[in-house]
Amino acid sequence: MSTVRVNAERPYSVEIDYGAINKLPGLVGQASRVAVIYGEPLAEAALEVSRLVGSGEVSVLGVGVPTGEAAKTTDILIDCWRALARAGFTRSDLIIGVGGGATTDLAGFVAASWLRGVSYLSVPTTVLGMVDAAVGGKTGIDLPEGKNLVGAFHEPRAVLADLDLLRTLPDREVSSGLAEVVKAGFVRDERILSLIREHPDGARDVTSARHAELIRRAVQFKADVVADDLREVTSVGERIGRELLNFGHTLGHAIEAWENYQLRHGEAVALGMVFAGYLSRRLLGLSDAAVADLRDYLEMLGLPVEYSAAPWPQLRELMARDKKARGSSLRFVGLRAFGEPAMIVAPSERILAECYAQLGSQ
Ligand SMILES: NC(=O)c1ccc[n+]([C@@H]2O[C@H](COP(=O)([O-])OP(=O)(O)OC[C@H]3O[C@@H](n4cnc5c(N)ncnc54)[C@H](O)[C@@H]3O)[C@@H](O)[C@H]2O)c1
Ligand SMILES: [Zn+2]
Repeated sequence: MSTVRVNAERPYSVEIDYGAINKLPGLVGQASRVAVIYGEPLAEAALEVSRLVGSGEVSVLGVGVPTGEAAKTTDILIDCWRALARAGFTRSDLIIGVGGGATTDLAGFVAASWLRGVSYLSVPTTVLGMVDAAVGGKTGIDLPEGKNLVGAFHEPRAVLADLDLLRTLPDREVSSGLAEVVKAGFVRDERILSLIREHPDGARDVTSARHAELIRRAVQFKADVVADDLREVTSVGERIGRELLNFGHTLGHAIEAWENYQLRHGEAVALGMVFAGYLSRRLLGLSDAAVADLRDYLEMLGLPVEYSAAPWPQLRELMARDKKARGSSLRFVGLRAFGEPAMIVAPSERILAECYAQLGSQ
């Protein structure tokens, strides 16, 4: 139905369609062994993938991994490496990741690290996995000390975003992924906002044409941003690079950590976007009406817009730690208006605390 081209160092396509996995047989290339690394709830989809790529000349190894974030551990990584070793995987073989962003982050890192890098195909099965994790080449795992601490850039040969696979996704996961979609609407693509406003229930219905169009637009947004700034160099002057993707994420990451990752990523980012809206009103002249709209869009998608569970000093400390990890001052992506992002660097402590109080009080 639609193809988004990602102009990375080695360009690749994201195919967004019902039944997109049927393109797999044409993507196996020279491989004589294929490993399908899949999250366990996706066993059925993984079987179908195996059937599509297996043949007389191609043997398929299925590697089931625990569901969600539990896959992104050193133990599971080692299990995957050893499964490849036992099956005699060579440089010309292929790895396919089937699952949410956690599974594809792991599978991509296995591909990046096996024999210093083998070909990788991504089959994301969550909204978040399609619009965010599958594009941009970042792969990795977590450590007990922190999320995503070990990883590599490794672009896939192709991404097959098969919309049929979303049918079993729980509503809460759909909403979480839509937080990244509406983020693209706030910072750049206002057509996303009108698609949501015209029919919010349709936007949340993974079988609707409206939902498919939202996914396509969000993938296009991410593809454009990463093509512009392949290695996440930096934002220079007025130009915001990959950092644009961080809208809502500065506070969002701190809330995720405070909640021990019990909130879905998109839920924490939704709260971070509301906070960024309040900061933008104070510091960038974002209008009251736009702040109210920002909250409305998130609520229409079933996302939270109020939060007060964490004491401010603790969240502030978590943001400072994140900042230290990146070696820079506290930075927020803000908005002058929808589609007009601007950086907010090192805002005053008083304004930060007041905006956090607003997040809990309306
Ligand atoms: N590489 C990147 O650039 C990038 C970007 C954003 C997020 N991420 C990573 O992605 C992860 C989050 O991704 P996520 O939100 O997809 O979470 P996830 O992978 O944990 O999946 C969420 C849940 O949905 C289940 N699931 C997946 N597909 C399903 C389906 N079709 N039907 C029913 N259940 C299904 C999973 O088993 C899991 O329980 C995090 O680890 C994050 O670090 C990476
Ligand atoms: Zn995100």
